[in-house]
Amino acid sequence: MVSPDSNIIIVGGGVFGLSTALWLTRGGYKNITIFDRCAFDKNYYNPSNGCDGASADINKIFRMAYGEKHQYQTLAIESRDMWLEWNKAIRESAPSELPAGLSPEDQLLWICGVWFLAEGHELRDFYAESLETMRKTAPAFRDAQFVRGNAEDEERLGKIDPKWLEKFHIIDKMNDGASNGFFDINAGVNIADRACVYARFLCEKAGVKFVLGDPQGKLQTLIVEKNDQEKKVTGIKTCDGLSHFGDLVIVASGGWTASIIPEAHRAVETTAGTVMFIDIPKERTDLWERFNVKNFPIWHYRSGDGDDYYQGSGFPISKEGRLKIGFRGRKFTNFEDHPTEPNLRISTPRTKYTKNPINTVPLYGLERMKAVIAKAFPELVEFGITESKLCWYTDSIDTDYVIDYVPGYSDSLFICTGGSGHAFKFLPILGRHVKNQLERVPDQFTPMWKWRVAEEGKPSNGLLEGETGPRVLNKVQLADPSDFKF
Ligand SMILES: Cc1cc2nc3c(=O)[nH]c(=O)nc-3n(C[C@H](O)[C@H](O)[C@H](O)COP(=O)(O)OP(=O)(O)OC[C@H]3O[C@@H](n4cnc5c(N)ncnc54)[C@H](O)[C@@H]3O)c2cc1C
Ligand SMILES: *[C@@H]1O[C@H](CO)[C@@H](O)[C@H](O)[C@H]1NC(C)=O
Repeated sequence: MVSPDSNIIIVGGGVFGLSTALWLTRGGYKNITIFDRCAFDKNYYNPSNGCDGASADINKIFRMAYGEKHQYQTLAIESRDMWLEWNKAIRESAPSELPAGLSPEDQLLWICGVWFLAEGHELRDFYAESLETMRKTAPAFRDAQFVRGNAEDEERLGKIDPKWLEKFHIIDKMNDGASNGFFDINAGVNIADRACVYARFLCEKAGVKFVLGDPQGKLQTLIVEKNDQEKKVTGIKTCDGLSHFGDLVIVASGGWTASIIPEAHRAVETTAGTVMFIDIPKERTDLWERFNVKNFPIWHYRSGDGDDYYQGSGFPISKEGRLKIGFRGRKFTNFEDHPTEPNLRISTPRTKYTKNPINTVPLYGLERMKAVIAKAFPELVEFGITESKLCWYTDSIDTDYVIDYVPGYSDSLFICTGGSGHAFKFLPILGRHVKNQLERVPDQFTPMWKWRVAEEGKPSNGLLEGETGPRVLNKVQLADPSDFKF
């Protein structure tokens, strides 16, 4: 059983690793080391700087609306307070008290509002459920949600601040106006890279050690001892040839988790989302202003059902002048041989920075995104898309996280992943519940996050599709530079 004196190794310094370390130190744990192959101390989680984990991004959606999953909704509401406390702590700091990469005017969460939109005039079921769950369990937060086309809601919103009314109508051109949904003025945008810089800083202040960069921070293999019955992990071997021993190894390696723990290939699968950037030229101050986080909300749009549905979102402009647009209606897989397990093929991230680099995205998502943007934001068409990125999710069989001891290792190996595209918002709070699972203190997430694997004949969120499905990266057409123009 772990205790505050245990020597704990965490592999991965993204949201799951950072939040776990932070909350363990708050519980008195004294001996925690995070290993990551990315040199976050030098690149500050900046995705244009050699980082390719899911957490190293410019921005993410912060929402509380979660359909009927009230556990996550409640967690998001609690997390929101913590984000606002972090904002305050940063604002009240002297520049010299902040880590490199962060200054007092940085905010980690901007409450810019989030639009949840869908095709057609009738309110989408998931949105209706989200509103109803909020009404039942957090009515004050339901009061901050405003339904499109509802005159009373619009009046109510205008009384709060006319600025919100502008944001209420800023997406009116979406799908030529034929859309439904609601606007949440308590939701907003996380500035992801800076948020990770701050969380890492808090970890360091609390005594967490970091071993960063390739080769010293990069795990090569787990060190596994085999007895008759059970296996036991005693540490990790890094790519510089050194061995590091510990009482417990926590693998929080996002899309690379199953590459490290072969048994996890039926618990989680990495899949690529399609992300595009439009860089707005400096001289277009009108557009910098229009898309500024003070004037522009996040929008999320869904159309169609079945295999070809559209689901995507857009963000306010970043400090550097980047508009990010993401598509996740279809997520792509990339099968490679497992690095340690013979005869096992698993989906593995392929990015700008991997051995077999990729600098484009499937045409499938790109074409659909262009069509949505051209209608909703025709003023952006002239710029074309300036850069693209594959961002790797770690999907579980049911989109709940996977945070538990891996069976068969005598409680020496712990898996902490399965973000399934929705964990960033929980950076300040996730570790509180990871610690519970580690200490076997049951909470509302214990049954949801327990170890579980895909089974034939049961819904598995695509995990059993393998290399035959329609979303295998090397079988789909990839965009070339001319496709980046509208
Ligand atoms: C396109 C996209 C959009 C998303 N949008 C949202 C959103 O709007 N809102 C939201 O809440 N969530 C969102 N998410 C989800 C969120 O980003 C993830 O759930 C979260 O960042 C996952 O964190 P992680 O720690 O599991 O993984 P990562 O951030 O990928 O961290 C894993 C780390 O492990 C390291 N690692 C891997 N292999 C090794 C090794 N061998 N040795 C050492 N280190 C290793 C990597 O370098 C990496 O830093 C999105 C995800 C994607 C992909
Ligand atoms: C951490 O654990 C290692 C290995 O057991 C030990 O050598 C070291 O002294 C411990 N450090 C602290 C701060 O307890």
